[in-house]
Amino acid sequence: MTIHIGVLASGRGSNLQAIIDAIKSGYIKNAEIKVVISDKADAYALERARAAYIPAVYIDPTPYKGRREEYDKLIINTLIEHGVTPDNGLVLLAGYMRILSQPIIQLYKMRILNIHPSLLPAFPGLKAQKQALEYGVKYSGCTVHFADVEVDKGPIILQAVVPVYDDDTEESLSERILREEHRIYPEAVKLFVEGRLKIEGRRVKIL
Ligand code: GRF
Repeated sequence: MTIHIGVLASGRGSNLQAIIDAIKSGYIKNAEIKVVISDKADAYALERARAAYIPAVYIDPTPYKGRREEYDKLIINTLIEHGVTPDNGLVLLAGYMRILSQPIIQLYKMRILNIHPSLLPAFPGLKAQKQALEYGVKYSGCTVHFADVEVDKGPIILQAVVPVYDDDTEESLSERILREEHRIYPEAVKLFVEGRLKIEGRRVKIL
């Protein structure tokens, strides 16, 4: 069965690109990105989608201020219209800056993945790399996890560690972490598509 992927992205879309490339090269088989959705009209992720002949949809959130569920209903409809269903779909959050509401998380239960630029549970939320630098950790990294109702808290699939150097800036650390993001996000998607992720409570076993 081919897994139909929908990607939600708000920004430059380098993780989206890593997944597009991993499918194209055959590293991830039996999966197709059916749609890329953004809450930002000028997200470069939408450009990347168009360049790869993937439908790119902008959904304006401004009329839905304070009505997150209604906005997410549009996201759900768009996913389903493009064949990303709760049966065969996989939703990837790739730099998506909005918090998902409960109905979409429930509908795609354990079928939504997120990438976060820290070793969770350390430094959840915004500016994780800056938080890591300010805290003074010697190692940071990135985490791919299932999305749950609580932000940055779902079961962890893969993590990668990078060193933090004395002369690091937010930019240099972010760049080092990003290289690992581009490696482990496609790997996690591959494991999902191959049906090799077994969830036992908070623990995700790789078969
Ligand atoms: C990445 O650092 C990711 O971990 C975080 O947002 C950033 C998105 O970058 N969730 P990009 O849009 O994939 O280039």
